[in-house]
Amino acid sequence: EKLFTNKQDWQGKRVLITAGGTREDLDPVRYLSNRSSGKMGYALARAARAHGAEVTLISANVTLPTPPGVQLVRVRTAQDLAAQLQTLFPQTDVLLMAAAVSDFRPAQVAPQKIKKAAEDAHLTLELEANPDLLKLVATQKKPGQLVVGFAAETQDLKQNAARKLVNKKADFIILNDVGNPQIGFNADDNQVTIIGANGFETQTPVESKAAIAERILAVLKKTFN
Ligand code: CTP
Ligand code: CA
Repeated sequence: EKLFTNKQDWQGKRVLITAGGTREDLDPVRYLSNRSSGKMGYALARAARAHGAEVTLISANVTLPTPPGVQLVRVRTAQDLAAQLQTLFPQTDVLLMAAAVSDFRPAQVAPQKIKKAAEDAHLTLELEANPDLLKLVATQKKPGQLVVGFAAETQDLKQNAARKLVNKKADFIILNDVGNPQIGFNADDNQVTIIGANGFETQTPVESKAAIAERILAVLKKTFN
């Protein structure tokens, strides 16, 4: 199968992609976040657009250039992302949830910069859980809508991904071994295993995130009528 085709075979499809990593504020100058670069989500947006899809990209703290023809929505926190998803998901045919959403946020955001005192040897932060946005959205899924989640794992890769597929009611999970620095977070290359609720499973070679995006779209396209 040829990669990087110019065929407009996603024309008429409304694709919503989340990318990057959310930031959870601690005080006016500090936040909790993760190593997500947004590269995989941006590669998916670029590829889907190149195939003729109508693409909206919800971007959390990414510094990459916006892919041509893609509608960009910027968010900072998981709560911002939740609000945008609620608005945009009903008009979506395919959701690709590539963003690394913070599982927790500080229970309180300090209105002023947190000061250290000379006698302080420790600081304990209290965190509270963010909702599972993928799970929330998949619960609202209407017939014909496709929901694709990602699983960032460092151990028991297949078991963890399979559990996420079921728990989150996703149609596909894209499994990513983030323990390997050559692929995954912030790397230019990636290798994923695409796992479908329909029993489909395939592992890609290690290749550019652009090529991985093409492979993911090719698998998803096979589910369209
Ligand atoms: N996700 C989400 N909302 C969250 C956390 C994760 O929508 N609060 C989504 C991610 O965008 C991704 C998928 O769920 O598509 C899996 O994220 P991951 O961090 O791998 O899994 P978690 O369910 O958060 O479990 P854990 O971090 O414990 O492995
Ligand atoms: Ca998580």
